[in-house]
Amino acid sequence: MKITVVGAGAVGASCAEYIAIKDFASEVVLIDIKEGFAEGKAMDLMQTASLNGFDTKITGVTNDYSKTADSDVAVITSGLPRKPGMTREELISTNAGIVKSVAENLIKHSPNVILIVVSNPMDTMTYLAHKATGLPKNRIIGMGGALDSARFKYRLAEALECPASDVDGMVIGGHSDTGMIPLTRLATRNSVSVSEFLSQDKLDYVKEETKVGGATLTKLLGTSAWYAPGAAVSAMVQAIGCDSKKMFPCSTLLEGEYGMSDISIGVPVIIGRNGIERVVEIELDDAEKAKMTESAEAVRKMNNVLSDMNLI
Ligand code: LAC
Repeated sequence: MKITVVGAGAVGASCAEYIAIKDFASEVVLIDIKEGFAEGKAMDLMQTASLNGFDTKITGVTNDYSKTADSDVAVITSGLPRKPGMTREELISTNAGIVKSVAENLIKHSPNVILIVVSNPMDTMTYLAHKATGLPKNRIIGMGGALDSARFKYRLAEALECPASDVDGMVIGGHSDTGMIPLTRLATRNSVSVSEFLSQDKLDYVKEETKVGGATLTKLLGTSAWYAPGAAVSAMVQAIGCDSKKMFPCSTLLEGEYGMSDISIGVPVIIGRNGIERVVEIELDDAEKAKMTESAEAVRKMNNVLSDMNLI
C-alpha cells in the first residue's frame, strides 16, 4: 500500500511516523512545497526504522506530484495551522486555495486514491475536496471526529480516574470549538454508562474541555497539536489498509442521512478498503438533534465562503 502525506509540517510528519511505526504500508511519500524539507523529515524518520522496527519506506519530495503516482491513500495536511486565539474558521482564506489545488494534483496522478482531509476548517475543506475532484463520497474522508473522540476519551478517563482503554465515547458534528457534540449520553466505561460514575457537572466539564481541546493545546504550544492528529490519521489509514471495517466519526458528504444533504460533517462511519463504506445512523435525542442542526448551520456558513472566493 502506498500512502502520500501532503505537508511535511508537524502534523504531516506525525502522520508519516505513526503510519510507519504501525508497519502495514509498503511506502509513504511525504511531499511539501518547502525545498528539501520533506526530504529531510523523511530521512530523519527512515533513520528510526531500525530502532523502531518498521519496514515502511518513507521518501520525501519537494512539490513533485509525479512521485505520488498510484497512491492508495493521500492525506492532506497542507496550509496554515492555528495560532493561539484563532479559530479554525479563520484559516479559510489561506487554506482553501491550497487544499483545492493539492486535491486536484493528487487526483491527476492517483485517480483511484482515497483522500483524507486534515487541513482546517476541516469540514469545509472536505466539502471543497468533493467539489474540486467530483470523487464518489466514499473516497473523501474528513479527519476530525476520530481526533475529537480521542480527546473526549482522554477527558473522560481523567474525570473517571481510569485508563483511556476503559473508556468508549464519540464526538459528532463539526470539527470546531462550538460545533463539536461529545455524546456523553452514550459514553461508557466498560459498558457502564459514564453517568453512573460522573455527576452532570463533571460531564458538562468534560464536554466543554473536549470542545476546546485543540484550542487548549494551541495556547500551550503556540501552534496547533500534532501527535493526536497524526495518531488519528494513522488509525484511519490503517483501517483502510487492513480493510478492518472500524467505526470512526468522520466528516463525510451527507446525502439524506441525519436529514441533511450537500454538507460534509462528522457522523459515525465504517472505514474499510473502499474508504467510507457506510454511514451509521444512530438515534439522537432532541437536544443532540438541535445541536447537530446548529453545528451544520455553522459549517454551511463556512461553505458559503467557498462560493464567495470563487472556489466552487
Ligand atoms: C486540532 C486540529 C488538527 O484539532 O484541527 O488539533
